[in-house]
Amino acid sequence: MNTTPVTVAVTGAAGQIGYSLLFRIAHGDLLGPERPVRLRLLEIPQALPALEGTVMELQDCAFPLLADVEIDSDARTVFDGAQLALLVGARPRAKGMERSDLLEANGAIFTEQGRALNDVAHDDVRVVVTGNPANTNALIAQRNAPDIPESRFSALTRLDHNRAAAMLAAETKTSVAKVKNLSVWGNHSATQYPDLDHAMVAGRPALDLVSRKWVTDTFIPTVSQRGAAVLQARGASSAASAASATLDHARDLMLGNRHGDWTSMAVVSDGSYGVPAGLVSSFPVTTSGGDWSVVQGLEISEFSRSRIDASVAELESERDAVQQLGLI
Ligand code: NAD
Ligand code: LMR
Repeated sequence: MNTTPVTVAVTGAAGQIGYSLLFRIAHGDLLGPERPVRLRLLEIPQALPALEGTVMELQDCAFPLLADVEIDSDARTVFDGAQLALLVGARPRAKGMERSDLLEANGAIFTEQGRALNDVAHDDVRVVVTGNPANTNALIAQRNAPDIPESRFSALTRLDHNRAAAMLAAETKTSVAKVKNLSVWGNHSATQYPDLDHAMVAGRPALDLVSRKWVTDTFIPTVSQRGAAVLQARGASSAASAASATLDHARDLMLGNRHGDWTSMAVVSDGSYGVPAGLVSSFPVTTSGGDWSVVQGLEISEFSRSRIDASVAELESERDAVQQLGLI
């Protein structure tokens, strides 16, 4: 049993996702019930007083696995020796904004953080980006960290994957535990493609249980617009579900995904499935010991091809925009 504490850095720690995420990490939901964690929390200077309050609450929970907590507004201090960096801090989307509006606002944050990770993080660091626009923020951080292997960077599409699993389970009147082999392709945005072509429900192909019409007219639009629907209903973007998905993503990355299943993650493309190499795009992946592999050999229908291509085209335009801004 390895009881050496793992150093986990979290950015945007005083935000709404942070308020859910930190307590679950400290409780052991990330690395399991035996592995202590050291939390290193990054915030902008104005948010440090609020973050001090969150740290008091973390202490008051008396979590046995929480080895210690440090907070700072300097990325180099916070990322020093980090083995896992969860990049959550960014400006969230307000009502009426598209993710593309966030590119410029958030680009500067991720260039600086990429450089800091490059210089001071642990040699073996894994970097997970939740802050939106997550795929392109991950691309910016990765390109600004030339000494870190590109496979160490990933971005969150697990919330979309989880939303798709929950919706399919409800439609087929089963439990999410019986849903397998869903794929989310492309960007974490309205163009994402949640794909049921290979999905199984309780051992049966999902497409034997639901109609094509439901997939195209209800399932895909509902999953891809779910973030906007939550934002509209709550008046704030999803937080507890985003924290839970961040944990699911990072836990699967570090400890391996569910046996016989795969998950969805945005990773640096190696050209698989015709996605241009270098783009951070979501794929079906299996994970083990901090590494991932794209699930290979899936048959891609004409419909899937067009949906994947549309989302990848959006990622290419985001990449071109940040290139023009000099961020990569
Ligand atoms: P929030 O506004 O409540 O918190 C963001 C925090 O980041 C704030 O406390 C802010 O001070 C901090 N921050 C800003 N700039 C920073 C910097 N340079 N360094 C460190 N911290 C900084 O937002 P939230 O609801 O917690 O959401 C955080 C991000 O996650 C947003 O970009 C949101 O759009 C995104 N999000 C992504 C997904 C996903 O599935 N990928 C889901 C939900 C939310
Ligand atoms: C989500 O999917 O809930 C987040 O990305 C928030 C948003 O802005 O849609």
